[in-house]
Amino acid sequence: MTTRLLCPACGNTAPLTTTQFRCACSEPLDAVHEPVAVSRQLFDSRLGRTEFPYDSGVWRFKELIHPDLPMDKVLARPEGNTPLFRAGKVGTWAGVANLRLKHEGYNPTGSFKDRGMTVAASHGYANGANAFVCASTGNTSAAVASYGALAGIPAVILIPENATAMGKISQALAYGARTVQIRGNFDDAMSLVQDAASELGLYLLNSLNPFRVQGQKTIMFELLQQLNWQAPDWIVFPAGNLGNTSAFGLALTEAHALGLIDRVPRMLAVQAAGSAPFSASFAEDFRSIEAVSPQTVATAIRIGNPVSFNRAVRSIRATNGVVTHVSDTDILEAKAIVDAFGIGAEPASCASVAGVRQMVDRGLIAPGDSVVALLTGHLLKDPDTTLRYHQGEYGGGHCNPPVTIDATLEALAAVVSGSENPQ
Ligand code: F0G
Repeated sequence: MTTRLLCPACGNTAPLTTTQFRCACSEPLDAVHEPVAVSRQLFDSRLGRTEFPYDSGVWRFKELIHPDLPMDKVLARPEGNTPLFRAGKVGTWAGVANLRLKHEGYNPTGSFKDRGMTVAASHGYANGANAFVCASTGNTSAAVASYGALAGIPAVILIPENATAMGKISQALAYGARTVQIRGNFDDAMSLVQDAASELGLYLLNSLNPFRVQGQKTIMFELLQQLNWQAPDWIVFPAGNLGNTSAFGLALTEAHALGLIDRVPRMLAVQAAGSAPFSASFAEDFRSIEAVSPQTVATAIRIGNPVSFNRAVRSIRATNGVVTHVSDTDILEAKAIVDAFGIGAEPASCASVAGVRQMVDRGLIAPGDSVVALLTGHLLKDPDTTLRYHQGEYGGGHCNPPVTIDATLEALAAVVSGSENPQ
């Protein structure tokens, strides 16, 4: 075996087959691999391959995420291989000429979650899981439901009632997951699911599962490969439960140690102002973390008590990283700009672009820096918020409301010439 499960706090190890992802000291376990010889050439030689599983932008990096997993246990759609867009006028708005947008909404279920899920679900499948379970603000649940369907393993998902975007609930139902709405928020669901996993014998697929974190590292590996292994100055992304923050710091330091890149980019993790315990903790040099009662229009990151706090702190420190927060108004404006560029993303995703603009204004990011901002979920995940914005409910300055006319050429001509009186 080349992988161990290790407690970063007390150094205890656990068998690879364990389904208890917290050490007895309560710290989440990490998956740690023996160093392997890999190279840019190895990963580049797999680009464009069509055979399973190297056609996946996750399993292309198998040596770095789950080297021991037998190939016949890999559950892959395939996932990853997401575009890295030049940001055009989004960059102009944010104040950075060399801005790129890595769009994880182009994964099979429409968010980055598929990357961690293919690895953790495969690990559970290989170890005889009877049922999958997760708590979720929506995207994780869609991915769990989908990979459960692929494996033929029943999935149970716990989501907050009245705070989960419609697209995501639709997916969970359509893929056949037992969908449980909790009277409470994500943090309540997260606490319940940990008890449920151990008491009811369900296999936990939240990012507490160290194999989720391993899979999410490939967002970094893939974007570095797309940049021809030239590290950008900054990597910017939205942060909620801090799985990505944890995974990205690991990936970047590993890529550097393996010689895939010659310097470590800085990370900027961006929270929504009403759900920003990690940002508040950063401002106090991470001395402690205070859970908050979460609020934000960006329901994906409406999280007040992130599970992966310590892991994420290590990642921020290892990358000379920064944590900030942006208001809902700024998130929605950034979303309107990303959407109007013809790309689009769900609200939480656009916290990253709002964060870039904020840090250019503050002088931390220079206009000449190279920056990659992550878009974590697809525009169609949360059509309600987009419609409400364009109907003026949030008072934003980029509204594009629909007009209703009689079916006459005259009325249409008035719309086309811009002289109509919108109804
Ligand atoms: N962006 C989107 C679209 C998300 O769905 C999430 C998390 C994040 C960002 C934050 O990532 O938790 O790794 O810091 N969604 C989880 C879910 C919580 O249940 O779908 P994180």
